[in-house]
Amino acid sequence: MGFIDWVVNRVKPRPGKVKRTIGNEKSEDTGITQESDPAADNTAAMNTNVYDSIVDVDYWWCFPGHYQPDKPLQDFVDIDTAVLRLRQEMAIQKFPLMDIPANILNVFKILEAPNFAYSEITALVEHSPAMTGEFLKVVNSASMNRGEKIHNLHVALTRLGREKIKSILYLYAAKLNFKTAPLFLNVVEEIIDHSYATGIIAAYLSQKLGQDQEEAFLAGLLHDIGKIATLRAMAVVCELPEKVDYELTQEYFNVIFNVLHEDVGAYISDTWRLGGQIRTAIAHHNNMEFSEEHDENAIALTSLVNLSDTMARVAGKGRMIGSVNIFDLQSTQLLGLTKNWANVEFLEAVPGLLKFNTKA
Ligand SMILES: [Fe+2]
Ligand SMILES: [Fe+2]
Repeated sequence: MGFIDWVVNRVKPRPGKVKRTIGNEKSEDTGITQESDPAADNTAAMNTNVYDSIVDVDYWWCFPGHYQPDKPLQDFVDIDTAVLRLRQEMAIQKFPLMDIPANILNVFKILEAPNFAYSEITALVEHSPAMTGEFLKVVNSASMNRGEKIHNLHVALTRLGREKIKSILYLYAAKLNFKTAPLFLNVVEEIIDHSYATGIIAAYLSQKLGQDQEEAFLAGLLHDIGKIATLRAMAVVCELPEKVDYELTQEYFNVIFNVLHEDVGAYISDTWRLGGQIRTAIAHHNNMEFSEEHDENAIALTSLVNLSDTMARVAGKGRMIGSVNIFDLQSTQLLGLTKNWANVEFLEAVPGLLKFNTKA
């Protein structure tokens, strides 16, 4: 059974559930009614507490963890030297940037106009079948199509809207940089797949949390841009083999990403002039360290990205993860997402949103 299937199976209705209400929750709990089990109801009459508790291990968001073998990179690059070198390049503003092709820069220019016309963007994008395919793939992904398949680029672009188009183009441009550095292409595609999952989850959760859906998607989609930029810079400044005789995955880069990817993400945010809150989310989604300069909206967006990032990994979209219960996370608590039946029910939909494949 595939991993996504395992997660999806966790959200199927299980037999024997009874009408449940939570005694201690005063919030938005609605007391979800489920299939009644007479034997369980009798027992419930004797001890209501038995049925008032949410059994965490029944749900996908309480995850036992993956086995995480140690995968060192040292066989072809010295991590300490690479980190030092990349930090020096950032300090002198010489960090090798990702190239953004001229046709994509032209789309960005049009998008900056307050009243841009989608027909202008369609005219530019349709020259590139690969770029057109990228937009159709995203708009037809599980979470965005509404039952019908979209084949028309103009319809796809209007459905996506300005911010989604921008963020999809950023990631698409980033991926193009690795066509000539195939050593890292598989890892980059893995990061992009994880980034889409994080953006989709963030947009979904934002509805519940009263946050801006477009901004949530953009922050989720770009939160790991620092990883892609780090790989791009390594390809420029490190001496690398053309290929290795095993499949590289994100796990090989855990150490270097942990040390660098948020700082590099902040650097890229500045060069791409991404907004303040999105920059904060990119720079702090992992360390969750804040100072007085961060207002509560920036902290809320960063927490949303942290939570969505973890959910994506639990659902099999992203690098492996240890044992975790989503409701125990600092970000979940900062967002005020409490464990009650309404929220548990809301989260049941998450794995089903992720049945897409951006690698195809
Ligand atoms: Fe990250
Ligand atoms: Fe991530």
